[in-house]
Amino acid sequence: MQRTANITELRKLVAEKKRLGKAIALVPTMGYLHRGHLTLIENAKQTGAYVVVSIFVNPLQFGPNEDYARYPRDLERDARLVEEAGVDLLFHPSVEEMYPQPMVTFVEVSQLDKVLCGANRPGHFRGVTTVVSKLFHIVQPDIAFFGQKDYQQYLIIRRMVSDLNLPLEVRGVPIVREEDGLALSSRNVFLSAEQRQEALILSRSLREAEGLIKNGERSAREIEEFIRKTISRESQGLVDYIEVRDADDLSDVVNIERPVLIALAVRFGSTRLIDNKVVEVEPDV
Ligand code: PAJ
Repeated sequence: MQRTANITELRKLVAEKKRLGKAIALVPTMGYLHRGHLTLIENAKQTGAYVVVSIFVNPLQFGPNEDYARYPRDLERDARLVEEAGVDLLFHPSVEEMYPQPMVTFVEVSQLDKVLCGANRPGHFRGVTTVVSKLFHIVQPDIAFFGQKDYQQYLIIRRMVSDLNLPLEVRGVPIVREEDGLALSSRNVFLSAEQRQEALILSRSLREAEGLIKNGERSAREIEEFIRKTISRESQGLVDYIEVRDADDLSDVVNIERPVLIALAVRFGSTRLIDNKVVEVEPDV
């Protein structure tokens, strides 16, 4: 595996592969890799492309009171993991390499970035789309992989690529979970044993909500209320949001008639966890 923190060198390495006719796949991450990230990498490997993984904790997507400073980092462990996973090139730029001068240019996907995580984290998605856009321009991949754990991020990036005619394909990868249901996240390391146990209510309440929809419940508000009550009854988690939205464009839903996204964000102590489920419905006859 090759690795570099330097944009010029990365461009050279990728250009050589392109000249040889290789397709390029990119898996952008912020590191502290877990099985979720490794699943994206496996999907990238399966395409037969030259696989580039980026590790960059992007300050632009963290709010002033968020966890940028304490976000977990372990580059050498991550480098071993990606090497074992058969990655071809690891790109791990510094903040100075990515942002040598204060940024005045941003990529913004409006509307989609105002709901769910965007409502409570102003500027977050602008930071994500700006850095992902930079990574796309630096690496120039043919395919890029994103996890549906961050479903809103995945939709926003798809929309950016489509609106701006970026010449690549975005592929989504389903959420990877622990055996007990907890969605894998780099932030799970901050949970105490007790909080981790309580956090299981997130995936469980999503599964139960799916069951209610499958059994005929069509009211989005009832589903949200059911999850809210389940979480408050069985945990100390503080709800940021629980929302049922259209799975394609995140628009408001009153009656569930098309595929919906049930998305939630809940704080356990100072750790904010997100989870979601897409539920398809049989049209009523
Ligand atoms: P990060 O949180 O490191 O996630 C990197 C990628 O891994 C994202 O596409 C995310 O959706 C995916 N991922 C994380 N946990 C997952 C899980 N349990 N199952 C499936 N996929 C999972 O998301 C970011 O970094 C950043 O915002 C980034 C896109 C790199 C831009 O800075």
